[in-house]
Amino acid sequence: MRAIILTGGLGTRLRPLTADLPKPVLPVINRPFLEHQLLDLRRQGVREVLLATGFKPRAFARAFGDGKRLGIRLTFAHETRPLGTGGAVRHAAGFCRGTTLVLNGDVLQRLDLAAFLKRHAAARAEATIALTRVADPTQFGLVETDRAGLVKRFLEKPSPEEITCDTINAGAYLFEPSAVASIPPGVLYSLERGLFPELLKHGRRLAAWVSNGYWLDIGTLDKYLQAHLDGLGGAWPLPLVGLRRRGPFLLDSGAQLGPRVWHEGAGRVLLGRGSAVGPGARFTGSVCLGAGVRVEAGASLADCIVLDGARIGSDARLERCVVGRRCRVGAGCIVGPGRALGDGSVLTAFSR
Ligand code: GDD
Ligand code: MG
Repeated sequence: MRAIILTGGLGTRLRPLTADLPKPVLPVINRPFLEHQLLDLRRQGVREVLLATGFKPRAFARAFGDGKRLGIRLTFAHETRPLGTGGAVRHAAGFCRGTTLVLNGDVLQRLDLAAFLKRHAAARAEATIALTRVADPTQFGLVETDRAGLVKRFLEKPSPEEITCDTINAGAYLFEPSAVASIPPGVLYSLERGLFPELLKHGRRLAAWVSNGYWLDIGTLDKYLQAHLDGLGGAWPLPLVGLRRRGPFLLDSGAQLGPRVWHEGAGRVLLGRGSAVGPGARFTGSVCLGAGVRVEAGASLADCIVLDGARIGSDARLERCVVGRRCRVGAGCIVGPGRALGDGSVLTAFSR
């Protein structure tokens, strides 16, 4: 089975973290985000994946190469100007053989591919959209279905008055070649605002399938943090190969845990490759430390992310925040909820 992953977005809502890295290769639990999705696809039998790239394409090649490391044959279709979600699929039409899976590149989800394919075949649809349920659909594509599970209406980013149900587009589709061929070639075109409403207008069969697995769009800082807390908290399965366990601590190769390090609350703490935690440091909930991170004596970290190469000074306090790569957080600093430090930021001691 073949899959196309849409990775051309700019990731503006994840700035400053996406200033240098596109969203799909931002580290999530110390791996490029898409790696989690690619490993899950391979587990379910997908062997060939095309990445539809736009913004910073070289970062993808650097992170995944030809995919061999992950057991996948990876190819790229680069757009020199953005073609939109539909245009990107049309651009990759030559890759589609029979039924093709298409995924948004910024969603962390556990998709039961066999069930999805079964539903698509049974519905004899030209396209099937995976749905998930959310409390507030305004940031998503609202999908109304009929009693047979066929799509009645697709409304991208509905206003609060337009909300009629809680099912939204999960950003995963199965397409027949006829649906891909209905996308106009070479122009900016959206699946959500163009293809789906257009298919419905012409009475073509568009089916829906509700996925019950874990689902999160990592597109905002809040959600990016949530992906880590959920993973370390056990809501989605982490790739744990090569990690040593010491109670709530997971240690990657060469990581060192100093004496009298405390942990409280639910969740786990991941220490990336070659990272080191000094004596008396305190952790609360779930914390992810990247490769080569240093946490000095007495620092306290609660539900936060520290990316590769950053250093957290003694007695500093971090809570529900993200510290970018190679940052220097001085001794005694306080970084509070919702804060994100861009790569290389320097905080002088006792900053708050
Ligand atoms: N190749 C390519 N070219 N990819 C693109 C382009 C483009 O021009 N524009 C967007 N993408 C990719 C993004 O990188 C992302 O992976 C995906 O398409 C969706 O774009 P977003 O910008 O993240 O859209 P959204 O989050 O506002 O809404 C989409 O996702 C929701 C689920 O998370 C829609 O598909 C909604 O209907 C859906 O509910
Ligand atoms: Mg998104």
